[in-house]
Amino acid sequence: MNDIFLRACRGETVPYTPVWIMRQAGRYLKQYQKIRKKVDFLTLCKTSELASEVTMQPVDALGVDAAILFSDILIPVEAMGMKLEFFEKKGPVLSPHIRDKSSLKKLLVPKPEDKLHFVMNTIKILRKELKGKVPLIGFSGAPFTTATYMIEGGTSKNFLHTKRMIFQTPDLYESLMDKVTQTITEYLKAQIRAGAQAVQLFDTWAGIFSPQDYRRYALSYATRVIEHIKNWQKNENRGHIPVIYFVGECAGLLKEIKTCNADVLGLDWRLNIDDAIEEVGNGFSVQGNLDPCALFLPKQRIKERVKDILSRTSSARGHIFNLGHGVLPETPVDNVVALVEHVHNLGKR
Ligand code: CP3
Repeated sequence: MNDIFLRACRGETVPYTPVWIMRQAGRYLKQYQKIRKKVDFLTLCKTSELASEVTMQPVDALGVDAAILFSDILIPVEAMGMKLEFFEKKGPVLSPHIRDKSSLKKLLVPKPEDKLHFVMNTIKILRKELKGKVPLIGFSGAPFTTATYMIEGGTSKNFLHTKRMIFQTPDLYESLMDKVTQTITEYLKAQIRAGAQAVQLFDTWAGIFSPQDYRRYALSYATRVIEHIKNWQKNENRGHIPVIYFVGECAGLLKEIKTCNADVLGLDWRLNIDDAIEEVGNGFSVQGNLDPCALFLPKQRIKERVKDILSRTSSARGHIFNLGHGVLPETPVDNVVALVEHVHNLGKR
């Protein structure tokens, strides 16, 4: 089995730097578009045979060192009782948005094996299909990033409703976060029981806070999830399932982030990865951090970018090469293939 990704997560020695790409299954791949022509996005997420098929597409086409479950961070929110729709230009819409006690009261903490059985089913199919070729990553939105969609009702620019709730009705925010945190914890445990070999928490929007607000209103809940999973793993002798914590726009928050007990910190591209490694120390492996738009450079220049990042990570406890955020739909596939090859060729450790 190629377990290089898992070993890098745990800070063990590896023959080369492993690589996978955030959003590696998706619209930049023709094979994905072909399936999407036939079914809408939510149906794709909920049909385990199709979800496992699109999960495998980048594994076969790119030669990455990990597969990531095909789903979305908003899937568990629907299971909590909100209506979820995806629109072509607008993105996701959740309704009715959660901004008062009565809408909060209607939300439940779903039993994942019941309401989200299709996710566990996809994971089981994938473990069989992967046959140990590469490990399978499960994932969830982190509590804060998930809650922004519930409070805003969709994607947001300035997160006004979320911040207003935090500052005007902190008790309401805390009650919402309790439910969201419990949901995500149980959801990730169910994914691990089904066969996920690592899990990633996406805190895509947590970079909107000052450091002290980030610690209090986002990090504390992500930490709760991670700690619960770590204790549960220990008590149930489940071995060491790595937890990756990704924070978008993390540069100003590293002092806070390094207090969490994830195995791996996912970094965006707005900072030098060596500076991040120096700040967080050798208690963590790091994942990142190429600008997704660097994939529009000519191949030779992509190679230089790869070289540069690799040269900055030699002192890291472990490094998993990735983009600093999801691959964009317009990205030339050839360049993604070239990126993976460059990492494998240049990343001997
Ligand atoms: O990484 C992977 O390949 C696994 C699949 C995955 C998707 N979304 C599939 C998807 C993962 C890990 C996500 C995470 C996700 N979803 C995040 C956190 C990471 C990040 O990228 O910031 C967020 C914020 C979402 C919410 C979301 N889902 C939005 C805002 C959108 C619309 C914008 C867009 O890119 O279309 C989605 C839709 C979505 N999720 C698509 C895919 C492949 C596109 C759907 C389509 O086929 O039309």
